[in-house]
Amino acid sequence: MLKVAMGPHENVYEAVGGDAGGAAEAFAALVDAFYDGVAADPILRPMYPDDLAESREHLALFLIQFFGGPAAYAEKRGHPRLRMRHLPFVIGPAERDAWLLHMNAALDAVPAFAPVAPIMRRYFEDAAQFLMNRDA
Ligand code: HEM
Repeated sequence: MLKVAMGPHENVYEAVGGDAGGAAEAFAALVDAFYDGVAADPILRPMYPDDLAESREHLALFLIQFFGGPAAYAEKRGHPRLRMRHLPFVIGPAERDAWLLHMNAALDAVPAFAPVAPIMRRYFEDAAQFLMNRDA
């Protein structure tokens, strides 16, 4: 199907396989690798719930939706409102950098994303900057 006026990020889901070619599995692997990093991170681990299962699911559904896949996140969680949802947490440069470190490492760990990794890294960097709510 031809879609017009898409940003490059909306092609990522198809580029990593789409519905039939394993995109959901690729995103699950990405999120698993990311949360493995979070689970071992002294700055980030205390911010998250003890059980990371729901965190994994929400992030995977959000990323699939944002990068051009099915809108299951919206069905389950409504509008993302990411800045509002992050306000309860203190996010300064250290938290931003730790989050990006683990997401960039996760991208390196899942080969399916190699062709689109630059688009994704750019988005994550901008989003993490936008979600900061402390200067230091
Ligand atoms: C800048 C550093 C960041 C920190 C410290 C951070 C931390 C957190 C924490 C503590 C939660 C709540 C636990 C949970 O429900 O999983 C959360 C939720 C979430 N974060 Fe972040 N986050 C950051 C950046 C980002 C970025 C850049 C994105 C997207 C690109 C993102 C997407 C999400 C999503 C989708 C959720 C779940 C929202 C929901 O409840 O549906 N976060 N984050």
